[in-house]
Amino acid sequence: MQQQLNKILTEATADIEKALSSDDIEEIKLKYLSRKGELNSIKKNLKDLSDEDKRIVGALANEVAQNLETSIKEKFDLIYRKELDEKLQTEKIDITLTGKFTPQGKVHPLTSTTNEIVAIFQSLGFSLVQSKNSPEVETEHFNFDMLNFPADHPARDMQDTFYTKVAPNVILRSQTSNAQVREMENNKPPLRVIAPGRVYRSEAVNARKNNFFHQIEGLYVDKEITFADLKGVLNEFIRLYFGSSRVTRFRSSFFPFTEPSAEIDVQCIMCGGKGCRTCSNTGWLEILGAGMVDVNVLKTSGIDPEVYTGFAFGMGVERLTMLKYAIDDIRLFFNNDVRFLKQF
Ligand code: DAH
Repeated sequence: MQQQLNKILTEATADIEKALSSDDIEEIKLKYLSRKGELNSIKKNLKDLSDEDKRIVGALANEVAQNLETSIKEKFDLIYRKELDEKLQTEKIDITLTGKFTPQGKVHPLTSTTNEIVAIFQSLGFSLVQSKNSPEVETEHFNFDMLNFPADHPARDMQDTFYTKVAPNVILRSQTSNAQVREMENNKPPLRVIAPGRVYRSEAVNARKNNFFHQIEGLYVDKEITFADLKGVLNEFIRLYFGSSRVTRFRSSFFPFTEPSAEIDVQCIMCGGKGCRTCSNTGWLEILGAGMVDVNVLKTSGIDPEVYTGFAFGMGVERLTMLKYAIDDIRLFFNNDVRFLKQF
């Protein structure tokens, strides 16, 4: 047995010497030191020995076991440190490296202006028109006839309006005013809505004009609505949108669907009213058309003009955005140049 023990010690020591990984160490532990290991099987046979031999062999077995445990631990510590070093080297994170850049999208300036204007009118008690009452593909009936445009009005001309091939009278709407008519036909007063949307006009594109752009239409119909209400609401809108220091003026005007009609100008932000190329030397820029809903329009839309009156207004979103941020070319909104879009 003593020989056997010495053999185990020599073999195990050689195995430990050869071990290269912590897995090898585990295997060695299992082979020699575990319950089913070689040392234990010798210890199990001790009972057959004389007391004297038991003492000697037992002591030797314990010594061998202790010996092995120590050398296994030493080897394991060595291997473990080596493996850890390797791991740290290969999995090293360089915290000084810059992170990956994830570009972030932004809301388009026309969308944010629309949202801002819609929020202002909502705070004044207006609500958004139902989208079914504000279609972009429209008939001449709602875009012109119902808005009191005479049959020979120049705006209907092929040069201004995009006609489709769907049917002779189907067009791309040239103004959001179609929403007024549909709203009045489909609902009973009081009506207090705004209708933002895209409109189309067959124009030569330049710095000031595009062949599609965006408008926000407003309509307020109720008993006893007067021009004073129109002025109050629109002045408040201008104050909230531009701030109270911006100089504005009401100017009388003409639209087929309003009577009386007005236009609102703001002082040119490029020249401060002195006159420049942007304002065609007038010192003013038009931002808004408005007026009291024409009696004819009320009547044809099924609203009794003896009981109800109302006002309407329409404004260009591109124009209002350009004036707020001093943008001098409408085409910038549609070029999708991130250098421009990133600024908002
Ligand atoms: N629809 C007109 C345009 O496209 C703008 C407008 C003027 C709308 C007066 C209105 C209004 O509602 O009352 O130029």
